[in-house]
Amino acid sequence: MYIDTHCHLSLEDYDDIDLVIKENRENGIDKIIISGCTRDTICETLELIDKYSDVYATIGYHPSEVDITTNEDLILLEKQIQNKKVVGIGEIGLDYHYGSDNKNKQIELFRKQLELAEKYKLPVVIHSRDATQDTINTLKEYKVIGDIHCFSGSLETAKIYISMGYKLGIGGVVTFKNSNLYKVVEAIGLENIILETDAPYLTPEPFRGKKNYSKYIPYIAKKISEIVNLSEEKVAEITTKNAMGLFDLK
Ligand code: NI
Repeated sequence: MYIDTHCHLSLEDYDDIDLVIKENRENGIDKIIISGCTRDTICETLELIDKYSDVYATIGYHPSEVDITTNEDLILLEKQIQNKKVVGIGEIGLDYHYGSDNKNKQIELFRKQLELAEKYKLPVVIHSRDATQDTINTLKEYKVIGDIHCFSGSLETAKIYISMGYKLGIGGVVTFKNSNLYKVVEAIGLENIILETDAPYLTPEPFRGKKNYSKYIPYIAKKISEIVNLSEEKVAEITTKNAMGLFDLK
């Protein structure tokens, strides 16, 4: 049994969501957590968690939305997170990949959502790209825990996040030939890892370059099992337990 702790499921990318969910079940993906991180996908995600019993959500405004996210959006977000199947806030964070001119605005949006997480004791799903130090400094201001989505940093950075109570979200990148992520996974072991696809992006080998699906989680688990030298069943068992604990899933 697996949990895909982070994917994006939208009609924009998938014509037949019923089929996606059916194939997840056939491939041992017991639960998925969809990340709604724009105004439209938050609404879409809330509809999906109503419709499917094994689908949960994290919602929150992605740093790429910083220029169009209003105070009204954040007031509505506070209401939307009251839904019992919303199990966290995210993906939220900082992204300086295309420039850091608006970094103060990004940090402000990040802080407002961290305040909500602290207030409602919800875990956060963190998007951090080319912004490690500011992400760590900002997170340290709040009593929150969560998941560093699509972790791709150094072992040193991994250890800092883990010491702050965060899990590392590991996905398709670990299967890429040019990735050094295996060194981090090997060194930290399974206790602080949760599995994610980030579908429709970051498709694992052998499907790299094509559209991603939650049903590919076993390919990520297989690679991790080789790295840590444990069975795929053990990888499934421990990462599922980690995810259930972090997101308080029953
Ligand atoms: Ni994502």
